[in-house]
Amino acid sequence: MNNNSPLIQQLTIEEQLHEAQNKILLLEKMMIEQSRLAIMGEMIGMIAHQWRQPITIIGMITNNTILDIQLGESNQEQLLADMDLIDKQVHYLSRTIDDFRNFFRQNKLPQSVTMRDLSSELLTIFGKTFDNNHIVLTFNGEMEFEFTTYKNEILQVFLNLLSNSKDAIEVKEVEKPFINIVITKIVNSIIFEIQDNAGGISDEIINHIFEPYFTTKSEKNGTGLGLYMSSIIIEKHLFGTITAKNNDQGTQFTITLPINQDPKRAHVY
Ligand SMILES: Nc1ncnc2c1ncn2[C@@H]1O[C@H](COP(=O)(O)OP(=O)(O)O)[C@@H](O)[C@H]1O
Ligand SMILES: [Mg+2]
Repeated sequence: MNNNSPLIQQLTIEEQLHEAQNKILLLEKMMIEQSRLAIMGEMIGMIAHQWRQPITIIGMITNNTILDIQLGESNQEQLLADMDLIDKQVHYLSRTIDDFRNFFRQNKLPQSVTMRDLSSELLTIFGKTFDNNHIVLTFNGEMEFEFTTYKNEILQVFLNLLSNSKDAIEVKEVEKPFINIVITKIVNSIIFEIQDNAGGISDEIINHIFEPYFTTKSEKNGTGLGLYMSSIIIEKHLFGTITAKNNDQGTQFTITLPINQDPKRAHVY
């Protein structure tokens, strides 16, 4: 009986450890969910940007048509042309929704992607917002190189980084804002360098930016979960690394990913 007790004790400690690990995993999952919601909020703002113009066009056409009918000046040819224009705008509106929705679908399996694919999705999402803010987004390097990864997860990380750069550019009122993404490939890894010219992150806080709930923004604008979530996705899920450093222009984030994601090792949140 006495001989058994250390074993029982040990098992209990192992069980406790297991339980604690499960709790941490659950907490991470919840935080990722929370940050997804925060990103969704930001994206709704972007949808609003993209929708403003087509909605104005549809409104103008309908008002003109009503006026023409009231004045007895409507003709069928004009009406058909106008309806065609409305139809195009409606297509555009529904396409935007699809683009944004695809973004939030979880990939169950890794898939083959190139930076060209990723860049065109990012431009669809950020294009209008960046145009309005005169931010020049460029991509350089191995654009056509195919690697295997969870596409939506890496897109979410880019989304976080780009929206942080955009925020910093706005706050600092940068005159000629740019964000440059460079892709290189070495042996079994692919490296992304994301550089902005928003002045960088101050030395006192740069070591804290990947911590959960760390933010320098007001409650309305920041959750402090974007970079935390990005590091969880990159390091725990995609088995890569993510780091940040300052240089004379601004902040540079470096992401390293394995070229081939092993579906057996990765776990999807
Ligand atoms: N490109 C950047 N330029 C300047 N500061 C940045 C940049 N990216 C991140 N930061 C800083 O890191 C903090 C944490 O970012 P994040 O985790 O995305 O949370 P949030 O954007 O909600 O504040 C930001 O509040 C900001 O102070
Ligand atoms: Mg952020």
